[in-house]
Amino acid sequence: MTTTPEFRFRRLRRSDVLRRLVRETQLSVDDLVYPIFVEEGIDQPVAVESMPGVFRYPESQLAEVVNTAWNKGVKAVILFGVSQEKNDDGSDTWNPRGLMARMIRVAKAAQPQMLVISDNCFCEYTDHGHCGVLCGDDVDNDKTLINLQQQAIVAAQAGVDMIAPSGMMDGMIAAIRQGLDETGYNHIPIMSYSTKFASAFYGPFRDAVDSNFKGNRNTYQMDIANGREALAESLQDELEGADILMVKPGLAYLDVIADIRAHSQRPLAVYHVSGEYAMVKAAAKAGVIDERAIVLETMIAFKRAGVDLILTYYALEIADWLSEG
Ligand code: PBG
Repeated sequence: MTTTPEFRFRRLRRSDVLRRLVRETQLSVDDLVYPIFVEEGIDQPVAVESMPGVFRYPESQLAEVVNTAWNKGVKAVILFGVSQEKNDDGSDTWNPRGLMARMIRVAKAAQPQMLVISDNCFCEYTDHGHCGVLCGDDVDNDKTLINLQQQAIVAAQAGVDMIAPSGMMDGMIAAIRQGLDETGYNHIPIMSYSTKFASAFYGPFRDAVDSNFKGNRNTYQMDIANGREALAESLQDELEGADILMVKPGLAYLDVIADIRAHSQRPLAVYHVSGEYAMVKAAAKAGVIDERAIVLETMIAFKRAGVDLILTYYALEIADWLSEG
């Protein structure tokens, strides 16, 4: 007895050329943003133990790191400062001679065409490690907004190309947009960490920024269980004027990416976070996965789900892999 399939999908899988011809999703080096950590007061790179290949760099080496990325074809970086000038409100971030402003100036001077994004938050600049001004044991939303405005303006004055607020304060996009518009920076885009979950996947990042932070961020970052609210958060930031929306972390939240993609016309980013990076590195080291294939499959999954750009510690390695073809 023979049976004949109703339709043969395999007809378009017969050769590499055919498969490429009908491939729905592409990954390009143009999609990538490389996060860089800069620490005050060190003179040699410090390896982040849980994230092999990731370092905290001294300010004196930032230009070199920016140039390395540029030469590999990675044309956007996001800067994280590890401050030694911590205080209760993170005021170093709005000091024109503070670490955030200095990093921006150094990165732009090194490679003027590099798209330099600042991570706009306070957690690496406050002595308590929270993403804003504390009132009792919780972050005061509206006081933090005023500081965010000042911080964004100082970043713009330093020459930043894009502002990326990551603190999950309500109204942060409207506040920053207003601050920038009123000071002559209406051309500077805002990429909002619009849907950021209170996730265990950030664990290695805390190691990376040497944070002595002990608590949790459950009163401002989102509950990992909430999908409807995840969409509402991003749509609210769109309403307030966010130019790019973001979901963070990545792989565990593909449903959220797809949902936002279906409801917004804005470009969408994903942050492939420290824990996602560390898990793949650890598995690769243990010899139980094909690192390159796993990472490229993950990136394609992000794009298939609906993102346009990807922030990943793998950016430089991916650039190498893509150029190998
Ligand atoms: C702080 C911030 C975090 C990350 C980026 N900005 C950590 C956190 O919210 O605890 C995480 C990055 C990563 O894990 O790769 N606002």
